[in-house]
Amino acid sequence: MKDLFKTQDITYKREDAIKVYSDKDVASAYVAERIAKIIKHKQQIGERAIIGLATGSTPKGVYRELVRMHKDEGLSFKNVVTFNLDEYYPILPVDDQSYMSFMKSNLFNHIDIDHCHVHIPDGTLSLEGIQAYCDLYEQKIVDFGGLDIQLLGIGRTGHIGFNEPGAILESKTRLVTLNDITREDAKDDFGGKEKVPTQAITMGVQTITQAKEVILMALSQRKAEIIKLALEGEITTDIPATFLQKLRHVEYILDSEAASLLSR
Ligand code: GLP
Repeated sequence: MKDLFKTQDITYKREDAIKVYSDKDVASAYVAERIAKIIKHKQQIGERAIIGLATGSTPKGVYRELVRMHKDEGLSFKNVVTFNLDEYYPILPVDDQSYMSFMKSNLFNHIDIDHCHVHIPDGTLSLEGIQAYCDLYEQKIVDFGGLDIQLLGIGRTGHIGFNEPGAILESKTRLVTLNDITREDAKDDFGGKEKVPTQAITMGVQTITQAKEVILMALSQRKAEIIKLALEGEITTDIPATFLQKLRHVEYILDSEAASLLSR
């Protein structure tokens, strides 16, 4: 690994794209600050900030910090438009396990975002309506001028959003089938694997990689193996996160555990 050095919070960097933190909260605060900077910059120039958001346990600290910035520092989200990566299918937005519920309880209910500016794939569509809906989701992102930043976690299968192994670089928003490991990982949320939906609507790999900036976060030992493959393995549809290696505008925010198998 090149450019190995140590600072107070960051234990090492590789070509500035990989930042490893010993403290998860410091890592989350860094990501929140990056998002806040975009929001404030756009406010200064009278534009909207178009932010791609993720769910899962990993970005919770980022949302906590953004809520704190709103409450303590007056960070406003009035100029913010959000697009979430994915949603289970089928699912009702009011279900506890829906990503709509997740986003409301972790972020949207605590900030001053205009609820018309929030976009999360709809888990209640009829099967026949899904593709047209997905095409419109893509078009809306384009109409807003594209995503200024996309936040990502990573699944143990190497998925980003719900782009499971087999997803191609050119994929766009669509209905997908969830991998067995992914459903296993979600079983506690749903009270049993058999209750986890077998499908989801997700932005595609192309949708994600077209964002002007991408931040992938991984915090915990559980992610160490997949992080090694995603960052240092060959680029392959078997591990969709490897497609990010092609990007110049991607940053990996890791804790020491998630980074523990990277070669140094
Ligand atoms: C789900 C989400 C992904 C997320 C992943 C990891 O599959 N669709 O966007 O990255 O979970 O979740 P966690 O952060 O809880 O490990």
